[in-house]
Amino acid sequence: MNLKQVTSVWFSPTGQSRQAVEMIRAEIPGSGAFVDLTDWNVNRPDYGFIENEAVIVGVPVYGGRVPDVAVKRLKKLHGKDTPAVLAVTYGNRDYEDALLELKDILTEQGFRPVAGAAVSVEHNIAHFAEGRPDEKDREKIREFGRKAAEILEKTYSSHEIGELKVKGNHPYRPYGTFSVKLKAGSDCTGCGICVKNCPVQAISRTDPKVTDETCCIGCMRCVSLCPNHSRSMGTLMKLAVRQKLKKVCAERKEPEFFYETGK
Ligand SMILES: Cc1cc2nc3c(=O)[nH]c(=O)nc-3n(C[C@H](O)[C@H](O)[C@H](O)COP(=O)(O)O)c2cc1C
Repeated sequence: MNLKQVTSVWFSPTGQSRQAVEMIRAEIPGSGAFVDLTDWNVNRPDYGFIENEAVIVGVPVYGGRVPDVAVKRLKKLHGKDTPAVLAVTYGNRDYEDALLELKDILTEQGFRPVAGAAVSVEHNIAHFAEGRPDEKDREKIREFGRKAAEILEKTYSSHEIGELKVKGNHPYRPYGTFSVKLKAGSDCTGCGICVKNCPVQAISRTDPKVTDETCCIGCMRCVSLCPNHSRSMGTLMKLAVRQKLKKVCAERKEPEFFYETGK
């Protein structure tokens, strides 16, 4: 397939999913563009793609699913049998139904998924699997990108693309009730970086110390960007989360890759 353009798309509050997309993208030839679905943008346009383009789409796993906010924003993408390469990143616990859900959303939106990756990285809340992806993971991700590029190259028309089978179940597991409450400490300088970057506008413009807990998705973006390390979930909550996840995150999970096998 002679690809006119390859567009990288991500919803990635703390940057791991974006990094995975960019690693895969580097192995796929073709001129590039990107769509960042993380930023709050009430006037976000719809994005249309044609057959001889491709998209690489990455999202994090929240509770074994695609985050609700990402689902809504992914529905702004419209393919016309456009090939898609998919990636979910997760914090070394499990990705359960997230890759399947991402595949279903993209298919519904008119794309043809050719390959999917589930990549275990450092957990952005509990910080298990510190330092991942490591070099071994990175090489596997690059190899995945090269294999996806090969499939795209040898496919003459997207109608030749067979079904992509990935891990996961229907019906998807229900969204969990576990929620992280993020707060500013007394040392908050009110610089507004968190306000500007919050994906869901949960932080007050007039007083960045105030977070709307009904709206906050606990994505950790404000914590990762705060120059003063003032934002956090609090020591007790941090300990409770680490305790809860200690067992299930302990064992190293290797990245998993899936490819369509043609018709
Ligand atoms: C609200 C929330 C829920 C999460 N749920 C899971 C999970 O179910 N399984 C898992 O292994 N990691 C989970 N994680 C960790 C993230 O999936 C992981 O850190 C991801 O790479 C973050 O992506 P990003 O850097 O693109 O935002 C969760 C993180 C958050 C903030």
